[in-house]
Amino acid sequence: MSMTLCKSVLITGSSRGLGLQLLKEMAKSSNRPSTIIATARNPAGSTALQKLSKTYPGVHIVTLDVDNQKSIRIAQEEVRSIVGEKGLNCLINNAAIGQSMDINTITPEAMMKHFQVNTVSPLFVTKAFLSLLQTAAAQSTGMGIQRAVIINISSIRGSITCNWDEGANFKSYAYRTSKAALNMVTRCLAADLGSDGILCMALHPGWVRTDMGGPDADLSEEESVSGMLTVLSQLTDKDHGVFKDYRGNNLPW
Ligand SMILES: NC(=O)c1ccc[n+]([C@@H]2O[C@H](COP(=O)([O-])OP(=O)(O)OC[C@H]3O[C@@H](n4cnc5c(N)ncnc54)[C@H](OP(=O)(O)O)[C@@H]3O)[C@@H](O)[C@H]2O)c1
Repeated sequence: MSMTLCKSVLITGSSRGLGLQLLKEMAKSSNRPSTIIATARNPAGSTALQKLSKTYPGVHIVTLDVDNQKSIRIAQEEVRSIVGEKGLNCLINNAAIGQSMDINTITPEAMMKHFQVNTVSPLFVTKAFLSLLQTAAAQSTGMGIQRAVIINISSIRGSITCNWDEGANFKSYAYRTSKAALNMVTRCLAADLGSDGILCMALHPGWVRTDMGGPDADLSEEESVSGMLTVLSQLTDKDHGVFKDYRGNNLPW
C-alpha cells in the first residue's frame, strides 16, 4: 500500500482493535501519511497507543469520545491546529460498539446506545471535521486519499440484503440496525459532499479477531488492515458512495 499522497489521516477508536492496528500499520510504513492523528476516548488507558506515538514521528494523540459533543468540539480545535492550512485528507470513522442481542434479550436502551455510538456519532464527528476536509479538498483535484475521503467502517452485518439464510445467523438487532443506518448516513454524505470533491464510502473490515470479533473470527487484525489500506490507497471516483469489503469487493446495501 502507498499512502504517501495522503498527507494527514485521523482515526477514531485507536485505543485497541482495528483502529490501533490501522495506526500501527500506517505509522511503521515507509509510504505513510506524514501526519497521523490517533484519537481515543481514554488515550492514557492504552499502553500500545502511547508506545506507538513515542516510537514513530508525526503521530499525534487526541482525546475524542465520539459520543460526546463537547469532546468532539475540543478535538476539532486541536486537530485544526495540528493540520493547519493543509486541512485533513482522510477521516476514518472506526470507533463503535457491538453486542449480540437476539429477540429475547434486546432492550430499548441497547438499541439507542448502538444507534448513538455507531450511527449518530460518525455523522457528528464528520460534521465537526468537514471544514478541514473541505480545506484539503480545495487544494487538489480528482477523488481519493490525495484529496479528501471519509471512510465509515461499517459491517456486512449492516447489509439488509445479506441478512438472510446463513447471513441471518448473527443475532444482533442493535448492531445490525445501527450499521444499516450508518450505511444510509454514508450515502447521504456521498450525495452531499461529492461536489466538494470529498469521497465518502462504507468499508467492511471482514470478520476479525478483535475484542468485538472474538477469537473464532476468520481474519487476524494484520490481514484485515492490510486489505483495508490497499483499498484506501487505490480509491478513485468510482468508489464514491459505495460499500466495499477489505478485499475491495463491492457489497450490496
Ligand atoms: N471485528 C470485527 O469482526 C468487525 C467486523 C465488522 C465490522 N467491524 C467494525 O470495525 C470497527 C472496529 O471494530 P473492532 O473490532 O476494532 O472493535 P473493538 O476491538 O471493540 O474496538 C472498538 C474501539 O472503539 C472505541 N470506542 C467505542 N466507543 C467509543 C466512544 N464513545 N468514543 C471513542 N471510541 C470509542 C473503543 O475504545 P475504548 O478502548 O475506549 O473502549 C475501541 O478503540 C467498528 O466500527 C466495528 O463495528 C468489526
